[in-house]
Amino acid sequence: MTQIGWYGLGSMGLAMASNLQRHLASKKALSLLYSNRTLSRGAPLQALGGVPEQSFDKLVSRCGVIFTMVANDSVLQSLVSSAVESGHSLKDKIFVDCSTVHPETVSSAIAQLKGPGASYVAAPVFGGNPIAVDGKLVFAIGGPKSATDVVKPLIQDVMGRKVIECGEDATKSSLLKIAGNIVTVNMMEAVGEAQVFAEKTGLGTGPMEDLIGEAFGPVAGGYSKRLTTGAYAPPLDSHPGFGVSLAIKDARHAMTMAQERGVQLPGLEIARANMEAARDFGGECLDSSSMYGTLRQKAGLAFWNEKSRQS
Ligand SMILES: NC(=O)c1ccc[n+]([C@@H]2O[C@H](COP(=O)([O-])OP(=O)(O)OC[C@H]3O[C@@H](n4cnc5c(N)ncnc54)[C@H](OP(=O)(O)O)[C@@H]3O)[C@@H](O)[C@H]2O)c1
Repeated sequence: MTQIGWYGLGSMGLAMASNLQRHLASKKALSLLYSNRTLSRGAPLQALGGVPEQSFDKLVSRCGVIFTMVANDSVLQSLVSSAVESGHSLKDKIFVDCSTVHPETVSSAIAQLKGPGASYVAAPVFGGNPIAVDGKLVFAIGGPKSATDVVKPLIQDVMGRKVIECGEDATKSSLLKIAGNIVTVNMMEAVGEAQVFAEKTGLGTGPMEDLIGEAFGPVAGGYSKRLTTGAYAPPLDSHPGFGVSLAIKDARHAMTMAQERGVQLPGLEIARANMEAARDFGGECLDSSSMYGTLRQKAGLAFWNEKSRQS
């Protein structure tokens, strides 16, 4: 039986790892070994039977398949370097990263892990925390077939409803994720603009939200709810569903790649600037949909609405 490990228990990672642990328990497989920078965030996972491990290097040494779900490229790079430099054998281990990172970060991880004989699978995800909780994410999977064949049964109908195959080149998965986030971020901007328009014209955010959900689908409807419930600016002692800095990172990755290839992304550029303005005003504890606060300010409203935090 292969020991499975998990590192990264943020908004997405904890929900995903919890579903994986439930699956392993149902198959009477070895319990998930988990670790996180803030290990205490794993308490709900431990309650499901997951087993905490203090250090990432030890987790790697004890597991055959290691999932990571971390904030950004530099965190992933430091984890891969730490595993390679740990001195533990990495031969035949499979690293599966589900974070959103630049294709160059994927290439560099593949190159680092190749020498010690480990494989790398990129498996970034589409869908936010509630979808992760439901085990209904969409995964874009790429990497050597021998490795993806091992990983797919741990994903399909466990953490995800759909696995999009991107072939043996793992950078293609990362590229698809970044391309998908061009749509995500533009859609958040569009929903925010429509809701500010609805409020200022006297139409009201309620009818607008009904229309968005009915006519443009549950994803757009969910983005509207982030605004009307105040989740775009949650209380300071909570974690945002999809932190604004993560979405800014994603937009920057797309814009860098677009620029190198002579592609214009004007909508994304506007949304990124509005997210950065929101972060300058409200700090890190903001959701990616917080460009809404900036749009409110530009329309002469307060950044905060009646359901959000107030400062
Ligand atoms: N949230 C979404 O809706 C969503 C959807 C699709 C994809 N994504 C992508 O999925 C990834 C995770 O997102 P998330 O929303 O789960 O993020 P998150 O809630 O901010 O969690 C980030 C995770 O990375 C860890 N981390 C951050 N900085 C670290 C460091 N310097 N060293 C070690 N660990 C560090 C955090 O540890 P601590 O617990 O100790 O802070 C936590 O486990 C990101 O790449 C994001 O772009 C997010």
